[in-house]
Amino acid sequence: MSRSLSLPSVDRPQPELSLSLIFSPIRTELAQVERQLFNWARTSNPALREIARQTVSRPGKLIRPGLFLLITGYFGYKNRDRIKIAATIEAIHSASLIHDDIIDSSALRRGQATAFKAFGPEFSLLFGDYLFIKSIVRALEFKNNKIAEILAEASGQMIEGEIEELAQSFNLELTEKAYFKIISKKTASLFRASCRLASELAGAPAEIKSELETFGFNLGLVFQIVDDLLDLKGETQETGKSRFSDLREGRITLPLIRAIKTWPDEQKKKVAGWLKKRHREWSEPVAGFNDFLLELETGGALASSLKTAEKLAGRAKNCLTKLEPGLYQESLIKLTEFVLKRKK
Ligand code: FPP
Ligand code: MG
Repeated sequence: MSRSLSLPSVDRPQPELSLSLIFSPIRTELAQVERQLFNWARTSNPALREIARQTVSRPGKLIRPGLFLLITGYFGYKNRDRIKIAATIEAIHSASLIHDDIIDSSALRRGQATAFKAFGPEFSLLFGDYLFIKSIVRALEFKNNKIAEILAEASGQMIEGEIEELAQSFNLELTEKAYFKIISKKTASLFRASCRLASELAGAPAEIKSELETFGFNLGLVFQIVDDLLDLKGETQETGKSRFSDLREGRITLPLIRAIKTWPDEQKKKVAGWLKKRHREWSEPVAGFNDFLLELETGGALASSLKTAEKLAGRAKNCLTKLEPGLYQESLIKLTEFVLKRKK
């Protein structure tokens, strides 16, 4: 008889951890970023119009542009280009998700059909390319080499990370070191770049620049570990994404790596077998799946991965102690807590 399944859930973020409160010092700027993205999506080309409307003009949590605006805000950097730069960061993120959803065959994102699902792989691949290259062209238009340089460098890292992840799919021998290398590139690089760009443009002192880069990098790691935990225990209605998509695609994430370490060879073989089988016939129930999920919980792999995310969030917050206390510093601290405790 199969045991009942009750996976632990991280505490729901408290009301003061709502993104709209956290972003209150940059509320006006973020609204302008959304408007900018909406305007960019208004193309006269009918072949692009619908896919642009359903992707670029439907932004998500705006965490990366939010980071950029909070840090420029902290330094009092008011150049009006900052809105377009923040929107360019979000457009690069959107382009990467359009590609990622093709690679992961994901049907759902932000509670809506992905571009992959709605328009098919050919259209979405080309539109993702288009959006990415347009973002780099926009970055070049600011006439400051640093902007395009930082964003292009981070994008290259994201692509590398995604390729490495793909290459390691179904590899039950994946090490934590390799996992951290992958998520550093595919996710933390754009978080770090958003912080670096903000402090470069604002002319921050070298020591603060480096602290803010480390802050962004650690925050990106937290973001991805929590993302990987949500794939295993988040509710689709809340995350807006299909649950178990990492397992379906054979992505070996931190909780899995930690659980696998404790398994005897025969269990590894069995799980490797049904991971491959599930990949082909995901809708078919696999015997032992619920027990496998329960084991991730009872064996402590989920809790220990969350502990690691907490430790990294602590490191991120530590970097912020070099900033003057105030509204912006407080928002960056709260944003770190939000990323750790988020349910979507
Ligand atoms: C989400 O991973 C994906 C990323 C953080 C990066 C994706 C990068 C690429 C596809 C390379 C192309 C990049 C550019 C700039 C064009 P996930 O699948 O773990 O997260 P999910 O649950 O949100 O899908
Ligand atoms: Mg994905």
